[in-house]
Order: sequence, then structure tokens, then C-alpha cells
Amino acid sequence: MYASSPDAPRKPLTVPALAAMKAAGEPIAVLTCYDASFARVLDSAGVDLVLVGDSLGMVVKGEPNTLAVTVDEIVYHCRAVGRGLSRALLIADMPFLAEATVERAIASAHRMVAEGGAAMVKIEGGRPSALEAIHALASREVPVCAHIGLTPQSVLALGGFKVQGRENAARAALLAQADAVVAAGAQLLVLECVPTELGNEITRRVPIPTIGIGAGPGCDGQVLVLHDLLGVSGGRRPRFVKDFLAEGGSVRGAIERYVAAVKAREFPAAEHGY
Ligand code: KIV
Repeated sequence: MYASSPDAPRKPLTVPALAAMKAAGEPIAVLTCYDASFARVLDSAGVDLVLVGDSLGMVVKGEPNTLAVTVDEIVYHCRAVGRGLSRALLIADMPFLAEATVERAIASAHRMVAEGGAAMVKIEGGRPSALEAIHALASREVPVCAHIGLTPQSVLALGGFKVQGRENAARAALLAQADAVVAAGAQLLVLECVPTELGNEITRRVPIPTIGIGAGPGCDGQVLVLHDLLGVSGGRRPRFVKDFLAEGGSVRGAIERYVAAVKAREFPAAEHGY
């Protein structure tokens, strides 16, 4: 039985439970969220993990990218979201360069956990500073979610939001990054915009759960930006996004439909992958 089925007890989800979900082959449903009202809907709809992502810079503040999001903003939104959760586990996104030094990473994570109430902190990238930050936090028993593939905080260096890991060298680099974040102590791994086949390979290779966004149906779980799922983000819709509002009929219906589709491995379909 899925932990989020209507009959399951509504015990808060814990970090160790995520490894058990991977081991049991139970898909993990993840959404971003930025306020208490939506958090209540996500939680009661059976979303397992709720991410206060730095995507808030784009979908809440209307900025062109995520780079101007601050630790203060993440903490503010975590506090709001946390008030709406009873079962789902809260993850806070480490903003651009907040992990640039170990001291800064620890101070930022301290605020996100102690003030924001996050149970896990997400760090983008597999570069040395990110690995050092993951290790510094994990060794101090702060659970860390790594994030590789398309890392939106690298948008200036990448020259845009592009699929990663298509060529052999890039693919080998991502496999090495996946190993490195696990060795550094990450307990969850977001894979963004990588070919489906690479998403499958990394998911088989690493002992921790993978959460895909544009990484194919083989990942251990899936994440979408809430505003994308509801079709209100504006702009061109990326291939990996599905507008669940159209088929769900209401906001709650859309979120319930998303959870059901992830749990049944009906979303993402082949057409949502690269
Ligand atoms: O900031 C965010 O919302 C994210 C998800 C897209 C994974 O990092």
C-alpha cells in the first residue's frame, strides 16, 4: 500500500522513509510550493515532498531567472508552507551562491532548518563548492538533496535552460557527479532535463532516491513546479510539463491527478522526456 493512500496513517514523512520508498519501488510525488494555502492542498492530496524552490523568483516574483532569490525569501516561504503541512516533508532550496563557502552554506542551512522548519536542504550542482557544502551539511546531520543536470542557477554559464548530458563527455560528467554527490553524503538527488536513458542509468546506479523533472519515467520520483502543473506559469511550456488543471477540473483535482499519475507511473509519459 502506498504511504499516501487514503487509508494510510498521516504520520509525518521522514528522511529515512525516502530510502525505504526507493527500496520498495514506491514512486515519490514532489511539488514546489510557496504558501500555506497551497501547502494544505498538496499535503492532503498526498504529495510526499514539498519543495520551496528558488523557482519562486520566476513564478512568484516574475523575474527572468532564479538568481536574485535570497535566503531570507526562502526562509519566509518555508515558514508559510510549513504551517500548511502535516505529513509532507519540507525541502528548502539553497539560493544562488549561498553554498559558495562552507561557512555560508552552514549559516544558510541553519536558517532554513531552524527558522524555516525545513527537514532537508537542496543544493544545485556537482562543482567542488557544492560537494564541499553537501559534505559539510551531511556530516553535521543536515539532510541534503543534491540537484544535477540542468541547474537553473548555472543559467548564465550554460547560456540558457538546455537539456544536459546528451553528448558522451557530458553524460560521463553527470555520472561522475551523481557518484560524487552520493559520496559527499546527499540523501536525495534531483535530476533535471537529462535524456530519459541517462535518468534511468543514474537511478539504477545510485543508492539514494532520484527525483526527475524532465528526466523520464524511470526515476524514483517526480517533481514539477506547481505553477507549471496548473498551467499558469506563462511563456513556452517545456516538454516535461503537463497541464493537470485541464484534466483535473479544479486546483485540488489537478494536484490529486498529478499524485495519482506519479504513483501509477503514468506521468511522465514518453512524450515528456528527452
Ligand atoms: O527551484 C525549483 O523549483 C527546483 C525544482 C524545479 C526542482 O529546483
